[in-house]
Formats: sequence, structure tokens, C-alpha cells
Amino acid sequence: MGSPFKDHQSHAPSYSHSFMKKILPYFIYVILPIAVIRLYLYSPTLPQPSTTVHHLPHSTNPISITTSSSSSSQHEVEEKKPAAKETQCDYTNGKWVPDNMGPLYNGTTCGTIKEGQNCITHGRPDLGYLYWKWKPKQCPLPRFEPNTFLHLLRNKNIAFVGDSMARNQLESLLCMLATSSPPKLVYTDGEDNKFRRWFFATHNVNMSVYWSPFLVKGVEKSRSGPDHNQLYLDQIDERWAADMGQMDMVVLSIGHWFLHPAVYFEGGSALGCHFCPGLNHTEIGFYEVLRKAIKTTLKTITERRGTSENGINVIVTTFSPAHFEGEWDKAGACPKTKPYNEGEKKLEGMDAEMRQVEVEEVEAAKVNGKEVSGFRVEELDVTNLSLMRPDGHPGPYMNPFPFAHGVQERVQNDCVHWCLPGAIDTWNQILLEIMKKWNQGQSRRGM
Ligand SMILES: *[C@@H]1O[C@H](CO)[C@@H](O)[C@H](O)[C@H]1NC(C)=O
Ligand SMILES: *[C@@H]1O[C@H](CO)[C@@H](O)[C@H](O)[C@H]1NC(C)=O
Ligand SMILES: *[C@@H]1O[C@H](CO)[C@@H](O)[C@H](O)[C@H]1NC(C)=O
Ligand SMILES: *[C@@H]1O[C@H](CO)[C@@H](O)[C@H](O)[C@H]1NC(C)=O
Repeated sequence: MGSPFKDHQSHAPSYSHSFMKKILPYFIYVILPIAVIRLYLYSPTLPQPSTTVHHLPHSTNPISITTSSSSSSQHEVEEKKPAAKETQCDYTNGKWVPDNMGPLYNGTTCGTIKEGQNCITHGRPDLGYLYWKWKPKQCPLPRFEPNTFLHLLRNKNIAFVGDSMARNQLESLLCMLATSSPPKLVYTDGEDNKFRRWFFATHNVNMSVYWSPFLVKGVEKSRSGPDHNQLYLDQIDERWAADMGQMDMVVLSIGHWFLHPAVYFEGGSALGCHFCPGLNHTEIGFYEVLRKAIKTTLKTITERRGTSENGINVIVTTFSPAHFEGEWDKAGACPKTKPYNEGEKKLEGMDAEMRQVEVEEVEAAKVNGKEVSGFRVEELDVTNLSLMRPDGHPGPYMNPFPFAHGVQERVQNDCVHWCLPGAIDTWNQILLEIMKKWNQGQSRRGM
């Protein structure tokens, strides 16, 4: 395969820049004390492997090189209605503004919040993080309307497929929908709630979640199995894909699991690895691997469903940044209680790179799928707006009342997932806007 970095210089301003950007993250994300990974992944308080561990302080992150030279003219474009469908709102560009309406639901009213993300019931004392709304520069982002969402999905099946971030987003959605129509849990595979389905009788909507942290076939690092992930980049993960025939809409969300040590296979042989000392493979990092996984996934969906009568709508949720500012198992790992101000935090480094790969692959799939009547794909670009929310994570409140006996020296922190309710609810607001737009511009089929 040669150098994985080679084919990337095209969009890098200079070689050294490209080199820094490509190489450094690989080393950064492998300086993970194995013990910490184990704790984070296999801690008995976590019923399911959580995503990843970026516990290097962002401040010491050497990849803080940025390509962005955007002159920040802070002109607020007046809110205006998007003129029909050719004016596409750029939801990624905006700021968080105070919002006294607060969330649609709370941890008491919603029964499907994963323990570790139910921050209020776990005693998180500051509630200011609940009172912000995302305000895109170009257009308004309406409050989430559960009935509209369910109406658009009437008689349909929607599936969330991916890692624990997919699940985080799904649970946010379930909680918001539950305020108007109660979902009934109709299926669970029993093991860590990795595969579940709910039924909304009011609209005959089925909503499911599939655990598949690579989307392609993979063997996850485990206590008993290999101590690194194994990915088969040209084969879809049939744990979810076998059900693809029943899906009308699918939301794909992956990323964090790609940072772990792994060996990659393609075409029946080893392609390389990411941090596999002692194994005789070439380090190839994970960006191009993520690209291949998404490519395989979108290609497989196009092939299997693109020509079917009902077709399929695909959403790719972009990378969700973590906000570790200190060590993950010390107090104050993600201590912020307010969003960043506009311009305070730039999208750069690994977060930017992961997002870029995902956006590029979605755009490529749009082009490839143009002639395919039953296939539609869009990115749900949440990276930027999520980056601005360092205050939205459970932090120590991933566990109930972490400071009940005073502040201990060691305390686990989740600065990756999002409290529910919280910032992640915004992702589903935007998801609904995409669905509304699809529905308006829709002549090909009823969505
Ligand atoms: C992220 O948001 C900032 C501030 O609104 C904006 O300047 C920047 O262009 C955005 N980046 C992307 C990739 O949308
Ligand atoms: C949660 O929401 C319900 C219904 O809106 C309300 O009655 C209850 O007081 C709320 N609980 C908290 C802790 O905010
Ligand atoms: C949803 O699942 C139920 C079974 O739980 C089934 O009766 C119903 O037809 C499904 N709805 C759709 C739209 O497939
Ligand atoms: C490592 O791989 C190379 C190329 O595949 C091979 O020539 C070499 O013998 C291998 N070394 C070991 C120790 O397996």
C-alpha cells in the first residue's frame, strides 16, 4: 500500500503541514496507558464499551496547527426564511445563544436514558448547560417538533447504526419523541442493549439501534479476544446490514473506535495497522481507514437498496469532538459549564480531519448515487456545533453522585458522550430539518 500519507498531500497546503497533521495524531492517540483503556472500556459500571479515551490535554496537543485563515467578519446575517429548496442552510456555521425555554424533556420524564448520560439524576449540580440553543448564521433552527418527525416517518422504519454516539443520539431522539407519543420497547437482544427496537403505535414507526462501531465487519478489542480491533474494510458488518432491507432511513454514526489500536484487512490480506507494536504490520493511521469503512458502507447500501422500490435515506452524523482538558480519571477533566464563545475554539486537528473524511465520502456518494433512484444521502454535520459545547458532557456524573464522599483523587470522567437532555438534542433538531427539506423537494418518493 505504500505510505498512507502520500495520497493526501493534494489538499494539504504544504508537506510539513500535512506531515504534522497526519502523523502526530497517530502517536498522540496511542500513548494510552493500557490500564486506563481497560478501565474505561470494561469498567463494571459501564454496561457497554464506551467509546474512546482521548485524555490528553487539548492544551498540550501538538496538532494545533490550523489551516483556517478565515477572516472572521462577525456580521450577523439577518434571520431569513430559506428561499425554497435551492438555498440550503449551513447549520454548521453559527453560535450558541442563551435560551430560557430549556429542553423538551428531563431525566424523569424519559425512561430510555443510559445511566452514564443521565446527568441530572446523577447529581450534576449546574444546570446552565440546558439553556442554550444553536443559532445558525443564515437561517433559524426551529425547536424540535415530535409530531412532525413522526409524521414524516409514518409507516416507516428508521435505524441508528454505529457506536455509542449513535446510541446517544438515538436516546435523545426517543426522549424528545416520547413527549408526544410513547415508544414501546419491542425488541432487545439482551446483551448490553446493543440491539433494540421501539414501536410508535401512533404513527406505525419502528426505530432501532444497531451496535456496529466500524459499520464494516470487525472484531472488537475485548478481554478474551485480541487486544486490538480487527477491521475488514471491504466487508459490511452483517449484524446490521442483514436487516437493511427493512430500513427506510438509516443514521450512521461512527468515529471514536477508529482511534484504538487495530489491524486492518482488505481483499483477504492485511493492509496495515494502527499502533500494533510486536505485530509485523505497517502503521497506516486511521483516517484513510475510516474513509474506506464509510465508502464500503455507502456503496453497499447503494447496491442493495438503491434499486429497491421504496429506496433508502441515509444520514451520516459527523465526528463528535471530545473535550478532555485534563486526565480522564482526575477531577476537572472537562470542567467547563458554558459553551465556547464564537471564535474561541477552532475546528482543527483530529476533529477536523475525521469530519472532513466523512463529509468527503458523503459528497462522493451523492455523486455516485445521483442516478440511483432509491438512494439519498446527507451529512448531519454536528462537529462544529458540538465542539463549541465543552460543558455538555457528563464528566464525573457518568457515575451517580461521584462526590458524595468528598472529592477523591481518582474519579472517572466521560468527556466524550453527551448529557441527556443536552447539546446532542440539537443534532436531532437538524436531522428533522434535513427530513423536512427532503420531504419538500420530494418527488421521487414519499418520505
Ligand atoms: C465552524 O464555525 C465557525 C464559527 O461559526 C466558522 O467560522 C467555521 O467556518 C465553521 N467551520 C465549518 C467547518 O463549518
Ligand atoms: C420533569 O418534567 C416534568 C414534566 O414536564 C415535570 O413535572 C418535572 O418537575 C420535571 N422534573 C425536573 C427534575 O425538572
Ligand atoms: C413495526 O414493527 C411491528 C412489529 O413490532 C410491525 O407490526 C409493524 O408492521 C412494523 N412497522 C413497519 C412500518 O414496518
Ligand atoms: C515481516 O513482514 C515482512 C514482509 O511481509 C517479511 O518479509 C518479514 O519476514 C516479516 N517479519 C517477521 C518477523 O515476521
